[in-house]
Amino acid sequence: MGGVDACHTSVLLNETVEALSLEQGLRVIDATVGHGGHAEKIMENIGHEGRLLAIDCDFSNLEKARQRLSHYKKQIIFVHSHFDQLERIAHEHDFFPHAIVLDLGVSSSHFDDPARGFSFLHNGPLDMRLDPTTQQERACDIIQNASENHLKNIFEKYGEEAHARRIAHALVKQRMKMPMMTTQLFAECVEYALPVRDRALRRKKHQHPATKVFQALRIAVNDELGQLERVLPQAVRVLQKHGGRLAVISFHSLEDRMVKQFCVQQSNPCVCPPDFPVCSCNKTPTLAIVNRKPIIPTQKEIAHNVRSRSAKLRIARIFSL
Ligand SMILES: C[S@@+](CC[C@H](N)C(=O)[O-])C[C@H]1O[C@@H](n2cnc3c(N)ncnc32)[C@H](O)[C@@H]1O
Repeated sequence: MGGVDACHTSVLLNETVEALSLEQGLRVIDATVGHGGHAEKIMENIGHEGRLLAIDCDFSNLEKARQRLSHYKKQIIFVHSHFDQLERIAHEHDFFPHAIVLDLGVSSSHFDDPARGFSFLHNGPLDMRLDPTTQQERACDIIQNASENHLKNIFEKYGEEAHARRIAHALVKQRMKMPMMTTQLFAECVEYALPVRDRALRRKKHQHPATKVFQALRIAVNDELGQLERVLPQAVRVLQKHGGRLAVISFHSLEDRMVKQFCVQQSNPCVCPPDFPVCSCNKTPTLAIVNRKPIIPTQKEIAHNVRSRSAKLRIARIFSL
């Protein structure tokens, strides 16, 4: 299938699978199996003896992956969970991998289904939860209940929205008149909070004026940075049994920075003051960075799949204990 299904095209597919240094018979965790594009390619590389643990917190995506990979069903364990439970899941299944892949964020199907509330292009409930079965707080709950300052911080930090303060103020005024329950109402309120010139400028660049705010709200609803922060040390610990590769694809500068800083810190964990002649903290590296610069998609991939344009792939080799 080459990483393409009806709704989602896998990003940096060959680069990621190559980065994992796979061989026949290895064990792999795909912690964001999505529609199973990377997983399918992984299965081709690890052969009949290989095993995969496939995790996704979105049940409908997990089912899509299950169908797509039905050919390999005896070799795969599917787990419906958030990936910040990785270590517990690995122990529960006695599954210690040689490689882990994290392809962060959401899949195209999330944007295409109006009922999930991720998109300003279709009207639907302002929801955005990846797992409505365990997550209580919807996007509309945050918009309705958060303080103006908290909303401003969300839009500024996760969306790098230059007009975060103005937008937060307009939303708070609007919510007193009518709760913001739909994506359309929310998108309109954000758009009309912007200065006319910025609104027009964004439209001219073929960007919906509420794009950044939608992304920021999605990151907040799903605690995407918290999930990443919690999973990285767990990934290292479960890979330490055999040693192996960790590949992370991120789509947001804050995520990429977190992965980069984590890898730098783990590759040189010494906390001795810089003027100490020899290390006395005795902290040893847990990993080696494979690529100093992240791998990014080719122009060809971006032309074929515009969603890939912000992707960055970082790879680390975890040492066995
Ligand atoms: C970019 S898609 C993965 C696509 C997949 N690699 C493929 O080739 O089809 C990201 C997936 O990760 C899932 N996801 C996002 N955050 C998650 C989390 N914290 N825990 C588990 N799954 C998560 C989403 O539901 C989505 O299915």
